Amino acid sequence: MTSDSLPFVQGAEYLSHAAQTAISSQIKSQIEDVDQLIENVSGAIKLASSVSSSRELTQLPASSCASTLEIDSETKESWRDLGLEAIANNEVAVLLMAGGQGSRLGSSDPKGCYNVQLPSSKSLFQVQAEKIIKIQELAKQRYNKSELPTINWYIMTSKPTRHATESFFVSNKWFGLNSDQVTFFNQGTLPCFNLAGDKILLESENSVTNAPDGNGGLYKALLDNKILEDFQNKNIKHVHMYCVDNALVKVADPTFLGFAINKKFQIATKVVRKRDAKESVGLIVMDKANQKPCVIEYSEISEELANKTEPEDSSKLFLRAANIVNHYYSVDLLTQMVPKWSSSQQYLPFHIAKKKIASINEKGQFVKPSEPNGIKLEQFIFDVFPSVDLETFGCLEVERTEEFSPLKNADGAKNDTPTTARRDYMKLGTKWVKENGGIIQGDDLVEVSGLTSYNGEGLEFVKGKVYANGEQI
Ligand code: UTP
Repeated sequence: MTSDSLPFVQGAEYLSHAAQTAISSQIKSQIEDVDQLIENVSGAIKLASSVSSSRELTQLPASSCASTLEIDSETKESWRDLGLEAIANNEVAVLLMAGGQGSRLGSSDPKGCYNVQLPSSKSLFQVQAEKIIKIQELAKQRYNKSELPTINWYIMTSKPTRHATESFFVSNKWFGLNSDQVTFFNQGTLPCFNLAGDKILLESENSVTNAPDGNGGLYKALLDNKILEDFQNKNIKHVHMYCVDNALVKVADPTFLGFAINKKFQIATKVVRKRDAKESVGLIVMDKANQKPCVIEYSEISEELANKTEPEDSSKLFLRAANIVNHYYSVDLLTQMVPKWSSSQQYLPFHIAKKKIASINEKGQFVKPSEPNGIKLEQFIFDVFPSVDLETFGCLEVERTEEFSPLKNADGAKNDTPTTARRDYMKLGTKWVKENGGIIQGDDLVEVSGLTSYNGEGLEFVKGKVYANGEQI
């Protein structure tokens, strides 16, 4: 082999013949078409520098939207019943995205294992597992089923998070779930590139760098791991997808499921109200030109549009549907579209993230850079939204304080920390207890277990009882 045989690998010319051969076969086993991948990277670099703010953006039509803050309780109840019925009939699965490396949080364990220091010391995984257990029970009761229904929980991990995640479930005895209702599967990985995007980086003389392919890697992972077939075999019709780091997530939320089922949406998304014009959140909007739903980053809208308010109600921003990456999919849609979404850059383009990547430089030396020296490639889950018809896409606004508190940063940061996740979780439980007549002094907070209550129900027994700060109910 000559040194020219790996022109697309940075520093390859400094490797021994044997190392070059090993790298070459590693790349061949992982990447079908290297030239195509390099072309895609170049496309991603162009995409990152293109001015997309020329798109004319507006709200989704009223027929696509609803708000649990504004609808009547009868409608909410009817949606909840529909969702519970689907759960009772074993038609619902949940899909958890847990492949991220949580670099901002800085924990060496996967985020789901993180203990935000609730009085119970429960991890995020445990909190979520207990919501599943509870909602199965509620569905059983509501529809008088003789057996407890099963919500299958599909957990997408990545190479860096898989082992620790699975071991955590095993050592915690699946948190009371049946082990066979939990399925782990890995998302793919992609090599990292130099900043110019024309050379793959090596993490050592005999190994190519690899990073998870972003949350949009979900679709290919569903296909590659035969999860879609599993949905079919188990007669699953509805999927609730969410992110591991939301401390308030209502896993398999029957109201959300019922909203989508009732309106025959193929994809639906939960949103919270954007706090103010400056909040840095992605928004669910409609592209006026093609009348398709899409997500835009906060940086993509003009200041004027960001500040625009509703003509009829100036207390509301015109574009206010903040994306919290919490979606419903019909299995029919996934079956039909996932093969297409996974096979083409047209649906799921690569996005680039400039990162510091420990790797071999152009002079053949291993470096741990202090500045970004390379590109990680990521796909975004929401990039497929424009490929569905507007009539089949729904958007449900929910109350932020009841549904969204992400764990992104280590304590000390301003927002989205273990402290804010714990506080928001306990504030919600405290509110439920007070609404049910429980007595809690001043600013004290208590923890309500997911096994006690899914969404504030079943707490009549607290009436007149006094609870101390930090108590578990
Ligand atoms: P984030 O984009 O916040 O990434 O993930 P992260 O890895 O948790 O944190 P940082 O950016 O490194 O600090 C949002 C959700 O998407 C999942 C995460 O696990 C989280 O649930 N995700 C992200 C994946 O499943 N795979 C990925 O490749 C990236």
